[in-house]
Amino acid sequence: MIDIIRKKRDGAALSAREIGFVAAGAASGAIPHDQLAAWLMAAWLNGLSLGETRALTLAMRDSGEKFSPARLGKTAVDKHSSGGVGDKTSFLVAPLAAACGVAVPMISGRALGHTGGTLDKLESIPGYRTALSLSQFETVLMRCGCSIVSQTPSLVPADRVLYALRDHTGTVENPSLICASILSKKLAAGLDALVLDVKTGSGAFLKSYEECEYLAALMVATAEAAGTRTVALLTDMDQPLGQAAGNWIELAESVDLLRGNRPPAIDDLRELSLILAGWMIHLGGKTGSPLEGYQLAEAALTDGSALAIFFKMIDAQGGDVSVFEDPAAFHKPGATRVVDAWMSGVIASMDTTSLGWAVQRTGAGRENAGEPVDPHAGIVFHARRGASVVAGEPLATIYATNEGMLDEPEAILRKAIHISEEQPRPVKLVSRIVTPEVAAEILAEAPSC
Ligand code: URA
Repeated sequence: MIDIIRKKRDGAALSAREIGFVAAGAASGAIPHDQLAAWLMAAWLNGLSLGETRALTLAMRDSGEKFSPARLGKTAVDKHSSGGVGDKTSFLVAPLAAACGVAVPMISGRALGHTGGTLDKLESIPGYRTALSLSQFETVLMRCGCSIVSQTPSLVPADRVLYALRDHTGTVENPSLICASILSKKLAAGLDALVLDVKTGSGAFLKSYEECEYLAALMVATAEAAGTRTVALLTDMDQPLGQAAGNWIELAESVDLLRGNRPPAIDDLRELSLILAGWMIHLGGKTGSPLEGYQLAEAALTDGSALAIFFKMIDAQGGDVSVFEDPAAFHKPGATRVVDAWMSGVIASMDTTSLGWAVQRTGAGRENAGEPVDPHAGIVFHARRGASVVAGEPLATIYATNEGMLDEPEAILRKAIHISEEQPRPVKLVSRIVTPEVAAEILAEAPSC
């Protein structure tokens, strides 16, 4: 291990065998954490080549147990988002794609930093179990076509160790390490195809558009080299997606769309979900183009078949579907406050990362790993970017765990939403589609490759 650290420290490329040694040693505990931390810093500072990134991804994928979708008899396709505020597309794309004939084995995560977590949101449904064994996961997939679960303790153990060390050593923000961490978990689910939703804008983890493009290209090239058909969409996170950001309120908003309703205020969520599902269906081999996939998904939204699958999956995972009969009646926040517009004008911009922190401070997110979250907390944003507002009109409704937790989110929100006379420049919902060909072009032009 000392030789491998020295080699990376001095900027040399490591062989697949050397990288495999690091990943296997991280998973088994054979390599001490101080050596792993030194190696991570050397990798962070000197970068990993495309070949090294690929080798690390595969070695991490193979560091523990894996899921095989072979017995499902369908192509297995998933979607992964780089994380955002109000990003609830998983609740739509999983049943939409399943309704159109592909299997969706979705292994999701919890709230991280300013972004929400799919598992925390699902656990606001009484009884819903996210911790299934791989054989229970398979059973739900066979019955419903989709299943949304948490990572099992033995799936990709190398990432468990390396991610915790990265968190403690300032080595999270490196495209190769992020790529290997995300893809090792996705590829361990045995996917045939993968759609990546890489967020850009004020609410994204990576702040510059070029960094987002590079990460998207790196992940597409790496997943493709591992035999998984992959495309990445660069999508807008310059404002929350849809209106609700929190736990239960995000599920309620998603089910409203699955019921076939079409509130104009959440048309961005509907559109992005259909585009992502369209790509999943297309890459899953069900249609000749993503547009035809979109049309199939739209039919499954309108005819209620996706809703039926979503409810069937919740029931199969122990959740009480009856809470969706009247979502507003089930919603019982500890305290509520409406924040009115403080002046007339247009919503010129939103600092979406700060808005994510405001949501976290309502009680909807957690400060430390393992802490519980409040299922009923969150914020509903009534006005979109570019909308005209009149002073005194409701801008947002804050739902907090208790009265004492209303002031901080309100203060953050007042600073993060900018009202002015000027119309903001329009932002595209999907700004770029990174196919394997586009990924090759981006990587060829990138200085770090
Ligand atoms: N999510 C992950 O799973 N890993 C990373 O490195 C970053 C985000």
